[in-house]
Amino acid sequence: MKRTRREVVKLGVAAGASLLLGGESLSAQSARLIGRTIPSSGETVPVIGLGARNYRVGDDLAERAPFKAALKAFADGGGKLVDTAPGYGNSETVVGDLVAELGIRDQLFVATKVDREDREEGLERIDNSFRTLRTDRLDLMQVHNLRGVDTQLGTLRDLKAQGRIRYLGITTSSDRQYQRMIQILERETLDFIQLDYALDNRNVADRILPLAADRGMAVLVNLPFGRGRLFRTVGQRPLPDWAAEIDCSSWAQVFLKYVVSHPAVTCVIPGTTKEHHAVDNQGAGRGRLPDGSLRRTMESFIDGLT
Ligand SMILES: NC(=O)c1ccc[n+]([C@@H]2O[C@H](COP(=O)([O-])OP(=O)(O)OC[C@H]3O[C@@H](n4cnc5c(N)ncnc54)[C@H](OP(=O)(O)O)[C@@H]3O)[C@@H](O)[C@H]2O)c1
Repeated sequence: MKRTRREVVKLGVAAGASLLLGGESLSAQSARLIGRTIPSSGETVPVIGLGARNYRVGDDLAERAPFKAALKAFADGGGKLVDTAPGYGNSETVVGDLVAELGIRDQLFVATKVDREDREEGLERIDNSFRTLRTDRLDLMQVHNLRGVDTQLGTLRDLKAQGRIRYLGITTSSDRQYQRMIQILERETLDFIQLDYALDNRNVADRILPLAADRGMAVLVNLPFGRGRLFRTVGQRPLPDWAAEIDCSSWAQVFLKYVVSHPAVTCVIPGTTKEHHAVDNQGAGRGRLPDGSLRRTMESFIDGLT
């Protein structure tokens, strides 16, 4: 049965809501990675992805080994969505090489970005991403920080029609761009948006996240730890008692479960270059998620520390 875009969104939100309500036994939930539906297609991706902004390393195999181990642990744990960009030093090249070495391209959902104003320069940049990421089909191409957004969205629509990219979207990580982001969401048809959202950075929750859900757009969340700011805020504090109620054994899992328990969120992409971090973060993709009441408790807790 083919569903309308709006029905798919409603189902996605309902699926999130049922996870919030904890409709299944804990053992059944903990056995699988929580997935979310991409509204424009109905495809499912695991809620925990991997941000590859810091895969900046030379050619030396020994230096690259830890990055390879992190990517392997992510894929072995059932992870799919990896986000990078041509502006992240040589991260695209490193990710492309490691994915090829590990032979995991078909398992992954690879997202990258375009960051040019001009159409020709954007096309060159995108061609280069196909080369560095060693693939002839990219899963998601995003306009990075809305740069040249009208021009680049035209290019991305052409590439999607040609089957070279599967999905298109836009990104930001700055409050200053939210108003423009809202205007774009209201007028454009997009598969994905990407934005910053974290337990101590909740400015997108009232307006942009509900709008994205209403417009049938998948949401990727960047900066879920505020580049480490949240870890510094909690310091050496032990986990609060309520962390056990949502099956969290680390602060990282607490921070990630807060983000993915928002029903509009499709996938969070914590920056992860260490194997033990990849394993830890994936733990947030299993077990119970906070309900609305516990989400408010988590917000009060962090607000009390900042
Ligand atoms: N405008 C945009 O489009 C935009 C802007 C910013 C970011 N992004 C995307 O979002 C991704 C995430 O942002 P980010 O990497 O800047 O910041 P982040 O995810 O908020 O924080 C990353 C930091 O957290 C650490 N970390 C990861 N897992 C951990 C764990 N389990 N325990 C303790 N520390 C942990 C990482 O360490 P290790 O590296 O050592 O594992 C790294 O230092 C980026 O990689 C990028 O793909 C997009």
